[in-house]
Amino acid sequence: MSSSIMHDEIFEQPAALTRALTEGRSAVTALVAEAKRRDVRYLVLAARGTSDNAATYAKYLIQITCGLPAALAAPSVHTLYQADVDYRGALVIGVSQSGAGEDINEVVARAKKAGALTAALTNTADSRLAQEAEHTLLCHAGVEKAVAATKTYTTTLALFALLAAEWSGHNELHRGLERIADVAAQALTVEAQVQELARTLIHAERILTVARGLHLCTAIEAALKLAETSYITAQPFSSADLLHGPIASVAFNIPCLLFAPKGQTAAGIAEVAGSLRQKAARVLLLAGGDTEGAAALPLADPGTELLSPIVDILPAQLLAYHLTLARGLDPDNPRGLTKVTITR
Ligand code: F6R
Repeated sequence: MSSSIMHDEIFEQPAALTRALTEGRSAVTALVAEAKRRDVRYLVLAARGTSDNAATYAKYLIQITCGLPAALAAPSVHTLYQADVDYRGALVIGVSQSGAGEDINEVVARAKKAGALTAALTNTADSRLAQEAEHTLLCHAGVEKAVAATKTYTTTLALFALLAAEWSGHNELHRGLERIADVAAQALTVEAQVQELARTLIHAERILTVARGLHLCTAIEAALKLAETSYITAQPFSSADLLHGPIASVAFNIPCLLFAPKGQTAAGIAEVAGSLRQKAARVLLLAGGDTEGAAALPLADPGTELLSPIVDILPAQLLAYHLTLARGLDPDNPRGLTKVTITR
C-alpha cells in the first residue's frame, strides 16, 4: 500500500493504544481518586475538532457506566460572553492533542477559579493546557505529524475508557481494554476492501455519516476526517436526528455511511438503512454482529460495544486516506490547514 505520514500514523495505533493504557494508567488512577475524595458530581468536557469528537464519546460513556452527568462545554460562554459559571462539584477536562487551544485553556482556567477539579487530556506534556490543569492525562501517542489526527483520537478514547473503568469498576471495560490493541490491529486488516470502496466514491460530492448514541462520535469523526482530507462534503448525523428532517434531503445514489456495531444501536440503524434504501440512497453499512452479512465493511468486535468507537473509526480513517489518494490529492497536506488551529 502507498505510504504517507497519515498512513503510517493510522497503522501506529495498536502500539499507541498499548502505551496510552500502560503508561497513562497511574495518572488516571490518581485523578479518579481525587475526584472521589472531592465528591465530584458531574463532568464537563472542553475541546475542539477531533478532540471534541473524542469528548462526545466520553459524554456517553461516563453517563452510561458511572451514572454521572457529563456534558460538553461551550467555550464562547467564557471567551466571547465573559460569563461566570459556577463549577463547584465539577470535574472539568480540557481535551486537546496540542494543548494549545486558547479557548479550551480559558475554560479550564476559569473552571479552576470557579471551584472545579481540573484535568488536561493531551498528547503534549509541556503544553499550556497541562500547566493550567491540576491533573494531566497523557496520550503517549508519540509525536503526531499528519494534519489529520488519528492516533491522538483513538488514544484519547482509550484514556476516557480507562477513566470510566477505574471510576465505575466496570469489569467488561477493564477486560476489553486488555485486548483493545489486538482488536485495533484486526480492524486495520480491511484496508484492501476499503481501498476498493474508496474507488467507487471518487466522484461523490456529498456523503452522510450516521450512527447513534455511544457511536455518534464515530460518525462525526469519520465526517471530519473525510472532509478535511478528501474535501467531500461530509455531513454527520445521529440516526434519530436524521429522521427529524434532514432525511428529506437524501436523494438518488447519495452515499450514506452507516455505523452499526453490535449492541443497542444496531437495530435502529438497520431500520434507518431501510428508509434510506427506499429513497434510493447508496447505503454503505459498516456492521458487526448479526447485520454483518449485509455490510459493506465488517467492524471488529472488542467484546463490548462500550469500546467499539476505539476500533470502529479505523476503517473510516482508511477510507478518508484512500479516497484522498484516489482523488489525486495529498492526505498529508490538506489545503489551508495547519497542525495546530488556535481559536478563541
Ligand atoms: C482534525 C484535527 C483538528 C483538531 C482540532 C483541535 O484531524 O486534528 O480538528 O482536532 O484543531 O486540536 P487540538 O486537539 O490540538 O486542540
